[in-house]
Amino acid sequence: MDKGKKAKSDFRYATGDVKVPWAAIGENVNADDVTEIVKFLIPNGKNQAAYDRQLTRVREEIEKLREKGGYATKLSLGNRVKELEEEVKEFLGVKYACFVTNATAGFGIGLKFSGLKPGDEMIAPAITFCSTISPALEMRAKVVLADIDPRTLNIDPEDVARKITSKTKVIMSVYIGGYPPDMDAIMKLARENDIAVVEDAAHAFGGSYKGKMSGTIGHFGSYSFHEVKNVNALGEGGIVVTNEPCGEDFPKARFVGFDIAHPIEKWLYDVVALKGKGGHYSAAGNHSSTEIQAAVLLNQMKRLKEIIAVRRENAEYLNKRFEGVEGIVPCPLDTDDIKSTYHLYLFQLDPDRLRGNIQDFKKGLGEKGVTQVPHFAPLYRFSYMKQLGYDTEAIRKTCPNAEEVFLHRFTHLPLYPLTQQQLEYMADSVIEVVKEMIK
Ligand SMILES: Cc1ncc(COP(=O)(O)O)c(C=O)c1O
Repeated sequence: MDKGKKAKSDFRYATGDVKVPWAAIGENVNADDVTEIVKFLIPNGKNQAAYDRQLTRVREEIEKLREKGGYATKLSLGNRVKELEEEVKEFLGVKYACFVTNATAGFGIGLKFSGLKPGDEMIAPAITFCSTISPALEMRAKVVLADIDPRTLNIDPEDVARKITSKTKVIMSVYIGGYPPDMDAIMKLARENDIAVVEDAAHAFGGSYKGKMSGTIGHFGSYSFHEVKNVNALGEGGIVVTNEPCGEDFPKARFVGFDIAHPIEKWLYDVVALKGKGGHYSAAGNHSSTEIQAAVLLNQMKRLKEIIAVRRENAEYLNKRFEGVEGIVPCPLDTDDIKSTYHLYLFQLDPDRLRGNIQDFKKGLGEKGVTQVPHFAPLYRFSYMKQLGYDTEAIRKTCPNAEEVFLHRFTHLPLYPLTQQQLEYMADSVIEVVKEMIK
């Protein structure tokens, strides 16, 4: 940010051209601190002596560099965060983007601006990561789980339509594995019933649906840059986006309601509550992320196209291998309208052709040394819903597809850059295990 210029409604120190700057400044990051980061990000492999020698050289070079370059003084909410947000706005074609701690924090911000309040209802798919509904549960709204489309595992708009009531204020649509849900149908329901749509695009940064970037179709969208995602922000990170006018207030929602553009009498800033749809106010939390995370994410974004391309090629390879193999239903691939990010290879088994179930399949793969991370479980199976007073048995009965795919059909394989040998071994193993399970 320009020296001396205050960002509207944001919390960035800018005390102008003064001789002695802002009072509250923490310890400088020195060469040892940087070496610790290098050591952590590039840990020792096998040869300790060679590693230590090289590290000493790196440490000396960093010290020389620091003498030439000085200290980083702004570690949070500075120019890199701003640059990242500008880049993301341009990339996604949205008016507002805000870098936050994680996608879940972004969902919470979207829900607050959607005016969700205790007692209101929010519809979300039964199969997703648990945090899709966590902010709504925290806000004491009632979560209603909709069944899923068994082919894509995404929310089924027909079941959403059945479950909309006069209290429904929000629908959360999720891009499982990066594959878009039926957003046209969801947005139609939203328009007809005056409902806000918050997109859980945690897996979907860089994908698209009918020419629009995934996560920019509803009223709010939030992406994850957690360490397991296609690109990451040093372990944690999220970006919430919108085209709604309230996006102007995203910086306040990110940092405790700070309104530095409107100082109160005898003080530097005001602290405001967030005004949601319908005039409902809620308090803001602190979801600020760091400059260094923004810098790394900006850099990873430069590789995003190639990252997705490699994953797509891996998915195409697996589909080719599984084509015509009895008992396997391969992953849906891109179409003219749909561009996935291929975060996961989601595929299914056909229980009518196979003995045993998905658990047997996973066990068989595990025995061949192919890790099977447990796939997403329907949310009504976790304790939190029951502990918060939900009749989870009754919910389960309203989501027959979720139950069926979870128990009998679906799992996923990795698509990150495996070696060709690993990829082939994984495909061979899947085919062998499935063949052993043929009835
Ligand atoms: C579908 C889905 N939604 C939300 C999240 C949460 O993202 P974050 O950890 O950035 O809050 C995840 C994380 O894996 C996810 O898989």
